[in-house]
Amino acid sequence: MQKIAVIGAGQMGTGIAQTVAAHGMRVMLSDVDLATAEAGKGKIDKAVSKLVGRGKIDVGAAEALLDRITPIGDYSPMEEADLIIEAATEREEIKNAIFEAAGKVLADDAIFASNTSSIPITRMANHSPDPARFIGLHFFNPVPVMGLIEVIPGLATAKSTTDSVTEFAKGLGKEVVLSQDEPGFVVNRILLPMINEAVFVLGQSTAGIEDIDKGCRLGLNHPMGPLQLADFVGLDTCLDIINVLYRTTRDSKYRPAPLLVKYVEAGWLGRKTGRGFYDYTGEAPVPTR
Ligand code: 3HC
Repeated sequence: MQKIAVIGAGQMGTGIAQTVAAHGMRVMLSDVDLATAEAGKGKIDKAVSKLVGRGKIDVGAAEALLDRITPIGDYSPMEEADLIIEAATEREEIKNAIFEAAGKVLADDAIFASNTSSIPITRMANHSPDPARFIGLHFFNPVPVMGLIEVIPGLATAKSTTDSVTEFAKGLGKEVVLSQDEPGFVVNRILLPMINEAVFVLGQSTAGIEDIDKGCRLGLNHPMGPLQLADFVGLDTCLDIINVLYRTTRDSKYRPAPLLVKYVEAGWLGRKTGRGFYDYTGEAPVPTR
């Protein structure tokens, strides 16, 4: 695969575009409009400049990487893409509308992948032009750093599609875990109940924010505690995923912690809004409770 298109220029989409470009492939980046796609490229520019500052890559390589990324304002140039990766908001109706619109320009031999973190692939595949060429390709944040991609074929996905995207994922220097199309796939099915439980522990005042995080950092050797990680992922995304687990399985063990719901209702969504379980507006994060 040489030409990739990424739909969604948020945290995940820009991370995917950066990683693809860092591995020598050309990538088109789109969002609701050209200005938003260009702003996404601006975020990548910033991340790459940091790497240059730290001596991780040289200026020439950084420029070449950025040259391979083209922000676009509509889907028509994607007719050239070998693979379109959807990385939009984790809402099924938004994703389905994208599959229908961008599906109109999908080349006859190209693949459509979704970076959904938990929505069933088999169901979304019906909104793409060819379910045999539709698959889940789940990246982890921050994409340039994390070593894993989950590959999730739906019921109708062709083996050739699974093989192609597995090869593509390995070409990005990532390890691949193949998951069946079950709610939450493998990693989020395990991660989100942990984050949700941490919010229950907080809500029941068993321990404070810092101690819950310290407990998991030092007691389990996790790089971030669960509340820090929830802020990093976005509390709205965490709630969306735990709700998908809850609604699709109807198993009460996945019921969202009431405090998580409250934080999302308050608009305290984590790092991206400057406040989640921690306040990020100062020099260092400060716990909010
Ligand atoms: N591009 C390239 N490299 C980058 C980068 C970027 N955008 N951002 C950071 N890096 C590199 C840095 O250069 C650094 O490299 P080095 O170790 O060789 O010096 C390395 O990444 C670590 O960066 P920092 O020193 O800035 O930060 P930390 O050491 O504090 O690590 C972290 C930050 C990697 C985010 C670490 O805290 C971590 O691993 N946290 C857990 C992340 C996690 O669990 N992610 C998964 C979330 S779940 C998910 O994504 C699924 C979804 O569906 C919800």
